[in-house]
Amino acid sequence: MALAGSAVKSSKSTSRKASKAKTALDRFGEIKMPDLTYTDKIAKATAPLYEKVRHHIPEIEWPIHAPYVYWINKLKKKRNATILAHNYQTPEIYHCVADIVGDSLQLAREAGLVKEEIIIQCGVHFMAETSKLLNPEKTVLIPDMRAGCSLAESITAADIRLLREAHSGVPIVTYVNTSAEVKAESDICCTSSNAVRVVESFESDTVFLIPDEYLAQNVAKLTKKKILTWAGHCEVHERFTAEELLAYKKADPAIQIIAHPECPPSVVAVSDYAGSTAGMIEYAKTRKPGAKVLLVTECSMASNIEMEAKGVEFIKPCNLCPHMKRITLPKILESLVYMKEEVLVDPAMAKKAKRAVERMVNLKPN
Ligand code: 13P
Ligand code: SF4
Repeated sequence: MALAGSAVKSSKSTSRKASKAKTALDRFGEIKMPDLTYTDKIAKATAPLYEKVRHHIPEIEWPIHAPYVYWINKLKKKRNATILAHNYQTPEIYHCVADIVGDSLQLAREAGLVKEEIIIQCGVHFMAETSKLLNPEKTVLIPDMRAGCSLAESITAADIRLLREAHSGVPIVTYVNTSAEVKAESDICCTSSNAVRVVESFESDTVFLIPDEYLAQNVAKLTKKKILTWAGHCEVHERFTAEELLAYKKADPAIQIIAHPECPPSVVAVSDYAGSTAGMIEYAKTRKPGAKVLLVTECSMASNIEMEAKGVEFIKPCNLCPHMKRITLPKILESLVYMKEEVLVDPAMAKKAKRAVERMVNLKPN
């Protein structure tokens, strides 16, 4: 069953609600914006990092990035901050300033373990909220508060309450790509790497898996449970078609197709493997799928893993996530200097939302 999703605001307004408490800048104080001249000292200090991204950043452009990389790494220590970056961040963020990289589940697990005082979330808003839920004592900053997600925007807490009323007793699993207020109304969360396991953790024969309709349909093929869903879609993955992928296969039948399960089921059906971004990376690196791999997901991921997946040539049917791409080196530096933008979650809501995320994180493997 697919229910029509209504376009709604995410819980960003909740996070932005002016707190009576001091702002992050009041608490931590301002640091002077550093001079961003490309000096010999900066060139030397950043040379090893440039080696990691030289296939993606022309040498002539490095003097623009290098001062940001240098100062972000310096100020991150001064502020006692750690940078969590999703696999879709650009190579200069992923390889040059991130402390921890991963898929949504890995980042959620790591967020709860962060010891530093400040978490800078290089990803989208729901990821920053998840970090705040799992490590509420920390100050969580997102370099651009507008970094949203079409899935998170597709459903509200009121929608979930209506579903509960209409389908009493049916467990509600929400994808982690949702706002804290939606998580607060859910029984448990899931990511693309554990969705089947989460759905099967319930005794009920019928389970809601919302709001990603395609993820739900792909999961339904892997379980005996009856899956009820919602009409939310990822604006990046919904654009891939089976026809375009088959055209690549026709041109070179040896090409292996690796797709994200947010893609339509028709795309997953013509793929050799489907899994979360971490699963896709693992497959490309360890299963040696052949010389040419078509990575059916956000563009930056192939660029980020090319160095590690030696011997694999990635073909990128490129779709960019405009939300992930709002995060840039200059904005990360501003986050560190001006302590912005702080992600806050209403404590009562956070308690309920945290329960749903923790149930997922603590779920034992089968
Ligand atoms: P994963 O990294 O969990 O596979 O999720 C992909 C995604 O779209 C995150 O926004
Ligand atoms: Fe959301 Fe899709 Fe962008 Fe991920 S890639 S943040 S699911 S819009």
